[in-house]
Amino acid sequence: MISTQNLSLQYGKRILFDDVNIKFTGGNCYGVIGANGAGKSTFLKILSGDIDPNSGQVIIEPGKRMAVLKQNHFEFDENTVLDTVLMGHDVLWKNMKAREEIYAREDFSEEDGLKAAELEAEFAEMNGWNAEAEAASLLSGVNIPEDKHYSLMKDLTGSEKERIY
Ligand SMILES: Nc1ncnc2c1ncn2[C@@H]1O[C@H](COP(=O)(O)OP(=O)(O)OP(=O)(O)O)[C@@H](O)[C@H]1O
Ligand SMILES: [Mg+2]
Repeated sequence: MISTQNLSLQYGKRILFDDVNIKFTGGNCYGVIGANGAGKSTFLKILSGDIDPNSGQVIIEPGKRMAVLKQNHFEFDENTVLDTVLMGHDVLWKNMKAREEIYAREDFSEEDGLKAAELEAEFAEMNGWNAEAEAASLLSGVNIPEDKHYSLMKDLTGSEKERIY
């Protein structure tokens, strides 16, 4: 069960929520409807803890965990499972891609070499060499077996994807 207690939020003079008390009970499916700008997205962000209300609170049943699915469920379809996890570490991922791009160049200049060395150093500093192993153990932790780590996201079931997100 998720409930809110005296939840209020306003942006400047615009009051979006004023003392909202609502209960979402298990086994039900809820939809949020309202005019453009009414505050639907903001409400969901408050529920997920993304933003804090001005007052009041969100109460999650003890022992339960809030999970939020990315809006675009197909965003990572063409990526492998392991890469999708690595992408969660934005800086590391950009570093890996930048290095790959440099090494793929046919006319590898001295400047490219320097840039690559710099990226390598940053990669090592971020413990990049361990990242893949860490991602793999994270996946095993949510019961995604090793033989699926190199599958494409689109070949996974909805439940598997959910565990990765
Ligand atoms: N960070 C912010 N600072 C100030 N005003 C904001 C902020 N975020 C949202 N708002 C305003 O709060 C109101 C509610 O926005 P919200 O995005 O929650 O509406 P919505 O119901 O999801 O709208 P839509 O149907 O267009 O998706 C809007 O008027 C928006 O301009
Ligand atoms: Mg919205």
